[in-house]
Order: sequence, then structure tokens, then C-alpha cells
Amino acid sequence: MDKIAVTGGKPLEGTIEISGAKNACLTLMPAALLTDQPLTLTNAPRLADIQTMTELLASLGCEVASLSDGRVIALNTGGINNHTAHYDIVRKMRASILVLGPMLAREGQARVSLPGGCAIGARPVDLHLKGLEALGAELSLEDGYVDARAPNGLNGAVFEFPFVSVGATENLLMAASLAKGTTVLKNAAREPEIGDLAGCLSAMGAQIDGAGTSEITIEGVEVLRGCTHRVLSDRVELGTYMLAPAITGGAVTLKGGSRDLVGALIEKLEQSDIAVEDVPGGLHVRRRNGVIRPLRVTTEPFPGFPTDLQAQMMALLTLATGESVIEEHIFENRFMHVPELARMGAEIEVHGGAAHIHGVEALRGAPVMATDLRASVSLILAGLAAEGETVLSRVYHLDRGYERVEEKLSACGAKIERIKGD
Ligand code: EPZ
Repeated sequence: MDKIAVTGGKPLEGTIEISGAKNACLTLMPAALLTDQPLTLTNAPRLADIQTMTELLASLGCEVASLSDGRVIALNTGGINNHTAHYDIVRKMRASILVLGPMLAREGQARVSLPGGCAIGARPVDLHLKGLEALGAELSLEDGYVDARAPNGLNGAVFEFPFVSVGATENLLMAASLAKGTTVLKNAAREPEIGDLAGCLSAMGAQIDGAGTSEITIEGVEVLRGCTHRVLSDRVELGTYMLAPAITGGAVTLKGGSRDLVGALIEKLEQSDIAVEDVPGGLHVRRRNGVIRPLRVTTEPFPGFPTDLQAQMMALLTLATGESVIEEHIFENRFMHVPELARMGAEIEVHGGAAHIHGVEALRGAPVMATDLRASVSLILAGLAAEGETVLSRVYHLDRGYERVEEKLSACGAKIERIKGD
């Protein structure tokens, strides 16, 4: 397995280009199941998770071509010949559940393995299932699979989410696009990826109103056509790399980043004396006067502070001039990075869903282990600021969601290299 070695202590200077959003692409690709016409996605990121979704759709009989060195994905699901998403693929990536809604809506049947938990929590799919039942699906669970039927198609309904779920909102938005009649999704997720999916579905002929707000109304249509859609910029990658100059000092321009994608992060960075300026085509980030102020951060659904940036923010706050508190309200076990940061000299105590971070003068490089996607990149950020060398193992977690991380950071002066494993 590959490792990544980082030698810290150098302020970063330069420009980083932000790729297309993993979490947008992972719902846009299954949207191709809603039509037998070609769907083309541009600005696609080149990531392991995209490869997994490609594998899953191909296993259903879809043609998925990766063009322009992986930046363009051409999908054609005219020939669906299998309605079962197998466990051996689904277990690799929870987002596999997003084939359920569109395949059921178009084909009247779908059999999808339950995803199982993951490192950051149990992460059930009960809201996906309850929502599809509200649209008239007949579901049965057996042998670890959910078997969904809608022989006469789905019917529009009003469905209120008991709490915000990004994936369940995406599944229901896709399914409702082909249901008979009107669907109203209440307490829907407002993440930018929902708006991006709605934009693509509308270009395919769907009738959607209110995407990006907590109430989305969908008038089902008989048939959807194909389209070409540009994948939204990745706000989690953007936020991650905004934290790089914040933690190392220096100044970095994030090309393709826009303020509206990371408003909650910018608000916190400004409180911490980190300057974020709009520049042509992106954002420019630098420390205002050399220190990092402590913060209180609580993760919430968009537009609140994103849970996907929690670990990265924690890395920054290990070097703040005082005590910070981070409360994780979305996932029940998303502090796996704490013991690894502690190995680097960070002083963090976790009580229940809150981490208390006592800022230290400096971090020290150490061998550390990635446990999940965002935890792994928080250790890279810490390594960029630490004295000495940090070697990150289990880098496959990182490759799921960050394209060419060592190239992007080296281009800004970081001393970082990949050590090829067996
Ligand atoms: C999406 O996951 C993202 N993944 C996650 O990003 C992100 O952390 C999460 O949304 C929250 O923003 C993709 O978009 C592929 P949820 P999702 O449904 O849809 C519970 C990353 O690092 N829940 O909003 O799975 C769930 O357990 C990944 O890129 C239920 O209980 O998240 C969690 O505690 C990590 N039942 C909370 O709701 C359900 O049916 C929010 O989950 C669904 C979710």
C-alpha cells in the first residue's frame, strides 16, 4: 500500500486548481439511469470513488466511458440488463445506494445491497427506504439486500425528512422526477450538490422547483432525455486547501473556488484571523497577522459548517493561541483523527460529541495512519505545519476523494511525496 511522506515547516505560496466535486459526481452518474439517452458529465474528478461508481453502473449493464483523461464521463444506460447492485461493490462505497431511486423509477425494480456501516458511523439508509415507500415502492429486506418494486411506477407524495439527509434527498429527487404527479420533499438537504443534481435533472427535462431550499417540489414527467452537464466545483477540496496556507502560513490562490460554496468556513477563518479575498477566478487565502485564533465550531447541514471539513479544521486549531471546541453533530464517530493528531503532539480531549483542542506551539512529524477520507487529509495538513517528517499510511482513504494531492501541494512549495507500496 502507498504511503505519503510530508516534511513540514514551509509556508505555502502558489495556486491550486479545484477539481469537480466527488459528492456531486457520485449522484450525477446514477442519474443516467433515469434515461435511455446519453448523459455526459464534464469537469469530472479522477478519483477512486468515481471508478467504483463506474464499476457499479457497468455491472448493471450501463456503458460508462471515461474520456479526456478522465475529465469527461459519457454514460449510456440504454442497455440495463441487471437490476442487482452487488454487495462486493456496494461495500466499497456507501454512495452506491444512489442507484436505488433512479433504477426503481425507470425500471420498476431494483435490488441493492445494504451498504453496511463505515468508519465514521452506522450510517443507515432508513430515510432512503421510507421516502421511496412514500412514493409507492414495495420494499422487502432479505440476505442483506433491499428489494424494491414499483410495477406500476412511482406516485408523487409529500415526504418530510425527520432530519436532513443529503443522500436520501438525492435518491428521492431522482425517483420523484419520473413519478406520476407531484412530490414535495420537506426538510430536504440544501447542500450545493443537491442544486447541481437538480440543474442536471432539469436539463434532462425534469420539472423541479426549490432545489437548494428545504422544500423541493417535483412534477413527475413520463420520460427524461440525456444532456451534457458540468460537475460543480468540489467545496470540500476547496475548503481543505484553504486550510493549507492557514496552517502553514504563506498565501495560496484557489482557482475555481467560490465564496458561496464555503461561506460557513470563511466565517470561521475570518474569526481566526485568516484573510479570505475574492480574486479573479477564485479565492486568495493567507494569515492576517501570523497567528491562528481559537474557535468554537459546530457541524451542521448546509449552509452550516460542513462535517466534511471538521477534521481539517481540527488540524488548524491544534496550533491556535488557546482552547477551541469542535462539536460534531452529523456523525456519531467522526473523531478518528484525534489519536493520530495526538501522536503529532496535538492536545485534544473528546467528551461525547465535542472535541476540546488546546493549542500548542508546534506539532512534530510522526508516522500516522489514515482511518477515513477526511481524517487522512487532516493529517496531511498537520504534517505540512509540523517540524520534521510525517509518514501517512493507508493512503487509499485519501485517494477516494483527493485528486493528485501531492502534485497540487508540491506546486505550492510543500515537501510531499508518495512512497509507492507493494
Ligand atoms: C453525504 O453522505 C456525503 N457523501 C458525505 O461525505 C457527507 O459527510 C454527508 O452527506 C453529510 O454532509 C456523499 O455525498 C457521497 P447523510 P450521506 O445522509 O448522504 C444519518 C465525504 O467525506 N442517516 O446526509 O450518507 C447518517 O448516518 C462523505 O465525502 C440516517 O440515519 O449523509 C448521518 O449520521 C463522508 N438514515 C446523517 O444522517 C438515512 O437514511 C447525515 O447523513 C440517511 C442518513
